[in-house]
Amino acid sequence: MTHFSAVANTSKTLTPKTGVLFAFEKEEGFFNAAAKVGKSIWKQIKDEGFLGKEGQSAVAHPPSGLALDRLIALGLGPKKELNLESLRRAGGRLARKAREVRIESAFIEWPRQFKDDQIKAFVEGILLGSYQFNRYKTQLKDAPKGLQKFIFKVPSDLVSFTNRAIQTAESYAEGTILARDLINGAPSDVTPKVLADTAVKLAKGSIQLKLYTKKDLVRMGAGGLLGVNIGSALEPYLIHLHYKPTGKAKKSVAIVGKGITFDSGGLSLKPAASMETMKMDMSGAAAVLGVFSQLAKLKPNVEVHGIIPTTENMPGGRAYKPGDVLKAINGKTMEVLNTDAEGRLVLSDGLSYAVQQKVDEIIDLATLTGACVVALGSLISGALSNDPKLLDRVKKATDTEGERIWELPLVKEYREDIKSKVADIKNIGGGREAGTIIGGLFLQEFVGDTPWVHLDIAGPAYLEREYPGIPYLTYGGTGLMVRSLLTLLKTS
Ligand code: BES
Ligand code: MN
Ligand code: ZN
Repeated sequence: MTHFSAVANTSKTLTPKTGVLFAFEKEEGFFNAAAKVGKSIWKQIKDEGFLGKEGQSAVAHPPSGLALDRLIALGLGPKKELNLESLRRAGGRLARKAREVRIESAFIEWPRQFKDDQIKAFVEGILLGSYQFNRYKTQLKDAPKGLQKFIFKVPSDLVSFTNRAIQTAESYAEGTILARDLINGAPSDVTPKVLADTAVKLAKGSIQLKLYTKKDLVRMGAGGLLGVNIGSALEPYLIHLHYKPTGKAKKSVAIVGKGITFDSGGLSLKPAASMETMKMDMSGAAAVLGVFSQLAKLKPNVEVHGIIPTTENMPGGRAYKPGDVLKAINGKTMEVLNTDAEGRLVLSDGLSYAVQQKVDEIIDLATLTGACVVALGSLISGALSNDPKLLDRVKKATDTEGERIWELPLVKEYREDIKSKVADIKNIGGGREAGTIIGGLFLQEFVGDTPWVHLDIAGPAYLEREYPGIPYLTYGGTGLMVRSLLTLLKTS
């Protein structure tokens, strides 16, 4: 990872030989450069088409006698529209550009006007945009390393302030990257046991772990998770991480993540192409683990329960079948009509268990429906909730972190569609209508009156292509919602 530090403007510390410049669209010159550097460089790159637009970058060679080898100019878009996301994207662009032109260290004269959350966003952008998943690559010898060192030159009274903002960003990125690595790992490498082992490693100090094995799950009556698991050769787990702040907790929140480490569809088998990315079906679980990896450092004043039901969904010889009836921890029976609607079945137990912990709020994260990808695409998560106030707070957090959500209604009348002839409810609706809402209505059966938000992250959890405009997002697992949840918990 890039190493960041803040130094006082006045100090004569030896700095890297690459400087970073910010420019706003429709404004002449750079925002954070001494006039003498600015003028000639500006003219040079303007002739090449650099106009300070968001997403633009340019590399220039400064006039001799400046003790600088290179300058990287980053466009921030119109000054009036500057927001955290512009800076996050500029950071991502810098990371990409630095790798492209093989720059390993750089510095910036950080504008005094840009405050701590803006430093955080820029650093996040650099760290997340630098991310590469190389676990399975054997030929990396000459590959560019990317940015290894980055220095913020700030007024001396802002050095420790800047370092604190950097640390927060590092924490947010580290949690996100932990999630990305888990999602990107091959499904035979990242098994339910590996998720459980990851939780074991996180359990120390203020974080405790209860790890329920198959035997425990039978005793608890976790029929949803056990049912989905039967077709798999691997053991299921219910992971329960618990963070307690040192002072008195303001409230308790459960974050529940779907942990299907591979979704073949079960006997309602998926077509080959749809299965290609189904190692990502544990992205909700990965987000929960990513959050827990940073709680001890960020110390929010709320109690947090991280709950992960995890198994594969496989069509083994004993696999659960369409027509089977499963009973969740809360006693409700579920008729299985499609074994590919397995997420809601394992979450029936995850959510019932969360309610048993008597938490004040529940947020679940699940790659639940293909319908949500059809409706909202790869950049927006669906959000369904029984509590407008909680949803509002979640929306504020996701907006701050640039992880967009869009509300879909829990249409009461559609509840009819999951009525079953033989059990309390069935796991699919009638036809192809409102798939994401049906999924949400199913989950609602297991949260009781607890304020709850369901985030269907099926689209944005995993990218099969990159978006040039969002350079801090990389191919594959995104680690989505780690940052938003950390912000939500911190501001709860
Ligand atoms: N894991 C899938 C949903 C999914 C699809 C996630 C595409 C990411 C990308 C989920 O378990 C699933 O298979 N859902 C079914 C539900 C249906 C059978 C009611 C779906 O969306 O087709
Ligand atoms: Mn499925
Ligand atoms: Zn699934």
